[in-house]
Amino acid sequence: MDKTQISISPSGEQFPLPTREDYRAEYTRLEKLAAEQRKSGKQVVVVVGLGFVGAVMAAVVADATDKKGRSTKFVIGVQRPSSRSFWKIPLLNRGVSPVKAEDPEVEQLISRCVKEKRTLVATYTEEALKLAEVVVVDVQCDYLKESLGNVRTGAAEMAALEASMANIAENIPAEALVLIETTVAPGTTEQIAYPIMKKIFQRRGIHSEPLLAHSYERVMPGRNYVASIRDFWRVCSGVNDAARERVTQFLTEVLHTDKYPLTVLDRPIESETAKIVENSYRATILAFLDEWSLFAERNGVDLKKVIEAIKVRPTHSNMIFPGPGIGGYCLPKDGGLGLWAYRHIFGFEDDIFKITPLAIDINDTRALHAPQLVRDALRNMGKPIAAARVVLLGAAYREDVGDTRYSGSELIVRKLTEMGADVKVHDPYLDHWWEFEAQDSYPRPDYSWSRFFHRQEPLKNLHIEKDLWASLKGADAIVLAVRHDAYLKLDPDRVFQSAGQAFAMVDCFCVLDDQKIRRYLELGCEVKGMGRGHIKRIKDRLDSQPKPRATGRRR
Ligand SMILES: NC(=O)c1ccc[n+]([C@@H]2O[C@H](COP(=O)([O-])OP(=O)(O)OC[C@H]3O[C@@H](n4cnc5c(N)ncnc54)[C@H](O)[C@@H]3O)[C@@H](O)[C@H]2O)c1
Repeated sequence: MDKTQISISPSGEQFPLPTREDYRAEYTRLEKLAAEQRKSGKQVVVVVGLGFVGAVMAAVVADATDKKGRSTKFVIGVQRPSSRSFWKIPLLNRGVSPVKAEDPEVEQLISRCVKEKRTLVATYTEEALKLAEVVVVDVQCDYLKESLGNVRTGAAEMAALEASMANIAENIPAEALVLIETTVAPGTTEQIAYPIMKKIFQRRGIHSEPLLAHSYERVMPGRNYVASIRDFWRVCSGVNDAARERVTQFLTEVLHTDKYPLTVLDRPIESETAKIVENSYRATILAFLDEWSLFAERNGVDLKKVIEAIKVRPTHSNMIFPGPGIGGYCLPKDGGLGLWAYRHIFGFEDDIFKITPLAIDINDTRALHAPQLVRDALRNMGKPIAAARVVLLGAAYREDVGDTRYSGSELIVRKLTEMGADVKVHDPYLDHWWEFEAQDSYPRPDYSWSRFFHRQEPLKNLHIEKDLWASLKGADAIVLAVRHDAYLKLDPDRVFQSAGQAFAMVDCFCVLDDQKIRRYLELGCEVKGMGRGHIKRIKDRLDSQPKPRATGRRR
């Protein structure tokens, strides 16, 4: 079969993409379903984009009930049928979540809404928009960076979002509420989306105002994935009074706003700016710890304990260790959307931003320090990094999720490979690491991070190891990159046994406590960690004590 005409799910199942003839029948199916559901009093909601946010938001909406426990919404999730994403549609229609996460409620919720309540379906046809009373926009708006460590050279990718808004305006009924949840450059809802919709409405002969609103997502994929959408505070706003009232009503009906009250702001630019400032603030407090992480490593300080000591003070309780880079889809890009808006939406030429871009640049390059620690640890063991076998544990950007977007781990693998190491990767939440397997085309042609490194060609063949213990065999170095539960529980003796030799252990995310560090050292391993300057002290103490019986040999 022509590979461009099929979509392969993460587990390897192949789905042929829909043909032109399929579209008619698909719309007829949806029309019938929507009519039936309306008869039973449900509102038809179309969620555009079934990614990490849209898939779960669609299910949260589909699960909504009134005070008597009756379902109030029928949700049609629209996902574009690209070969990379189409598989999400048939999977979701079977009641299977297209996103993997540690939160068991994700699977339960999707299965319940699709199979039992029958309030959730997925489709590829954008004609579904014709049936909408509410449209929720959960597509991505990328910020494309032209260089590594300089966010200022990037640009917001507005074309796709503009096309989505135009398409929505072409299809929706005039009175439908359009809620943009996508994180956008401040000003987008009023200065970009509204004029697009207004012009198309005028051409369609619609004289009423588009009911356009903005409310950003604060979803945290992971253990509390569903709750982070449904049981969490939201900020919203609308382009006019009617839109503001409609969005307030809609969110009150689908989220637990009784316990987590809504903040309704006056204008969408305020809600859009709130999102960008919220994430820039987070990016900044993470970036700020990068220099202290180096300070700690060079001066015998364990930054992990320092942060824990500071966090006891309630005013500083949200301080977090930065890990090997700050990945995820949001923090590396959101500040960039703000900078871009200032210049390209509002037309200012001066440069008022200092901290926001600097924080992103620091975070974007922090991961490059991890390969240096691997190099140094191996050197202390008398092994050169070139041709060393390195096993990286954790590809995702954070614990308990399978999202690899902009993860620090990607940079670690690329840099280690450039330095000549042979890298294997394990991650319990992933079947494929598309940033490598499809590096010529993902995240889009010419935008892979591979362009910033040498010797990247072989990484197309990188696959995710499924058997953790087998993957460790013969390792010269092991890099703990993510705080996945399975890695927190690793027993040093078992790891040592699986490797079959002493190795360099590099902890990038405070995975190891002092007891484990000590045990690895006893086993003859070299241990280093980002921000963990105290390891040398543990080693010195060990060296000055009579040796306990150990399976390994200290060098
Ligand atoms: N992932 C997070 O943790 C998170 C948290 C808060 C906010 N956000 C924001 O939410 C938005 C969505 O993020 P995401 O993580 O779900 O992204 P994603 O890439 O996982 O999902 C977007 C989905 O939309 C689909 N899509 C794109 N254009 C489409 C179109 N025209 N019609 C139908 N489908 C289309 C894509 O194929 C993809 O499946 C972004 O703006 C992001 O910044 C994400």
